[in-house]
Amino acid sequence: MDIFRKKTLSEFSQEARVSKLRRVMGPLDVVLVGIGIIVGTGIFVLTGVAAARYAGPALMLSFVIASITCAFVALAYSEMASMVPVSGGSYSYAYASVGEFMAWLVGWNMVLEYTVGASTVAGGWSAYVVGLLKSAGINLPIAWTAVPADGGIINLPAVLITLFLSFLLIRGVHESVTVNKTLVLVKLLAIFIFLFLAAPSVDVANWEPFMPFGWAGVSAGAAVIFFAYLGFDAIATAAEETRNPEHDMPIGIIGALIVVTILYVAVTAVLTGNMPYQQLDNAEPVAFVLRELGFRIGSAVVGTGAIAGLTTVLLLMMYAQTRAFFSMSRDGLIPQSVCKIHPRFATPHRITIVVGLAVAAISGFTPINIVAEMCSIGTLFAFIVVVFGVLRLRKMYPDVKRPFKCPAVHLICVLGILSCAYIMYNLSNMTWLRFAVWSVIGIGIYAFYGYKHSIENGGKVMKPEDIVK
Ligand code: ALA
Repeated sequence: MDIFRKKTLSEFSQEARVSKLRRVMGPLDVVLVGIGIIVGTGIFVLTGVAAARYAGPALMLSFVIASITCAFVALAYSEMASMVPVSGGSYSYAYASVGEFMAWLVGWNMVLEYTVGASTVAGGWSAYVVGLLKSAGINLPIAWTAVPADGGIINLPAVLITLFLSFLLIRGVHESVTVNKTLVLVKLLAIFIFLFLAAPSVDVANWEPFMPFGWAGVSAGAAVIFFAYLGFDAIATAAEETRNPEHDMPIGIIGALIVVTILYVAVTAVLTGNMPYQQLDNAEPVAFVLRELGFRIGSAVVGTGAIAGLTTVLLLMMYAQTRAFFSMSRDGLIPQSVCKIHPRFATPHRITIVVGLAVAAISGFTPINIVAEMCSIGTLFAFIVVVFGVLRLRKMYPDVKRPFKCPAVHLICVLGILSCAYIMYNLSNMTWLRFAVWSVIGIGIYAFYGYKHSIENGGKVMKPEDIVK
């Protein structure tokens, strides 16, 4: 039994699309792509809950800790992405470096990153829409806009936006560079308007006590808002499209992380400076604070910007999930039939429907902080495996050309693994329990299905004509 069988780099290059990606992006483009993918629910939604329940005003420090962790991981990811440029992301990197079983576990946990993550974003989207309508005098009934744990029946806006975006994904909507740039600007504008309107009324007395929950609270806060940085791993996959990856990728990734961190810390400082942290326990804190300050129109404008930004993050996360499943099914680890391509729209419609229904169900019924923590733990696990994989590949393929090489690779990778493990350690016991149950289910599926049907185990390779249905 060989659960550590690996795919070779040449297998990956055979799989890689024949169409060559064009090297059109410079460092600034990478920064903008990064902000486009990263900035979303974390800042617009989770800051409120995280400040109120975990870290207080010291949530600012939590953001800095999470961002340093991401910087280590991002450097390692850039090296991997420039060596193994295929659509499966973390899953494919693991398959090349640490073998099939771990790759499956990573892929299985990417479901937490993308499907569960998308549910978090959908929940945040709903909170902003409900808030916006409220400021226009339209009060939607709580029964239809809140999950059962928050006193409702179903979070219907979250379900509806998810189903609508799934429909768009099936029809083949691709995010274009221009659309992304526009939405990045809308998002940034929303944040700047918020800072401009709310910063003057900061009362530093609200920052006392700075660490109401002590250092443990700061660490727990970092674990919860780690979600705010998710997506930076996706920047690494742009390595093939940058003009000069050795130079542009580190500047782009680290640049995006720095910009995002400054924005996050600034927004948190202004939020917690405007009212006692206990009052921020709210799913749309940015718009809420503006409303409380009497900026009704400002609140509506910022809310609209947030909604636009959250829509793209949601779309991208569901898209990423279908791509990850696609790679896993191509390798035979999940049934190949679920990833058939629609003959007219040329999109994997079946898996998109499955993902859409799953996201709709989760976001309709589960509280946002629970799903965000699940998302963080799954992603952190995947990060640890991939960062370790970078070190393995240095040993396995010392001479292969690496368009981007992680500097001081041993130090950075070890720090990356340790800091991810530290953040995981700070997640709640319930989250660990859910993670354990999730992993056991995953191992069961691999044992009873994936191992046997894997292409590496002689499973049937799908013929191109069979893929379309
Ligand atoms: N970082 C993304 C967000 O905060 C996932 O929505």
